[in-house]
Amino acid sequence: MNKKGFIFDLDGVIVDTAKYHYFAWKKLAESIGISFTEADNEHLKGVSRIRSLEKILEWGDKELSEEQFQLLLNRKNEDYLSFVNKMTQDEILPDVPRILNFLKENNQPMALGSASKNARSILTKVNLLNEFQSIVDGTNVTMAKPDPEVFLHAAEGLHLPPTKCVVFEDSLAGIQAANKAGMTSIGIGDATILTEAHYVFKDFTHMSNKFLYQLISES
Ligand code: BG6
Ligand code: MG
Repeated sequence: MNKKGFIFDLDGVIVDTAKYHYFAWKKLAESIGISFTEADNEHLKGVSRIRSLEKILEWGDKELSEEQFQLLLNRKNEDYLSFVNKMTQDEILPDVPRILNFLKENNQPMALGSASKNARSILTKVNLLNEFQSIVDGTNVTMAKPDPEVFLHAAEGLHLPPTKCVVFEDSLAGIQAANKAGMTSIGIGDATILTEAHYVFKDFTHMSNKFLYQLISES
């Protein structure tokens, strides 16, 4: 059978952690007098921790010393981890296990391509660490999405050319990264936001095995 490389983003695609990033950033922004809405948060999805704080400070027209900046980054992560530590397998998003099993049964290589430095501990927590042949996360990349680096590394890890790879992403930055890498981009979420994706599904419950089979079979 034909082989495609299936690369999954983590936050908001495999697990329902995007909301925890939102809660933690909102608390942090408001603690320094910067308002923060869900629409603002949309611009931080897929974006690295450092770049996210830089953006919030730009929006609020605030400058911080390097020391204060680090302090806030740590505070945000501690807050985020206080949610993550309570996570169970129930927070795996609907039908993710079906998709992973279908691809596994059809011998399709799978990778993780995430901006998060917490990726491995989250995957361990929900018992999915061993599902991926290659894991590329915020600890192995230097360029944040929309730069394609994370997905190009993931494709290398699967020993497949980018054109044979398919990316599942919930962020616009991630879709742009996948497109720049020359991969097939599949948005998971709101089609009015993920306008640049080749395909968009509200969530995995709307994605049939037949659709996956077609992706595998296409040259
Ligand atoms: C991405 C999230 O997956 O990871 C972003 O969409 C987050 O919101 C980024 O900022 C970095 O995550 P972490 O866990 O290293 O702070
Ligand atoms: Mg995401």
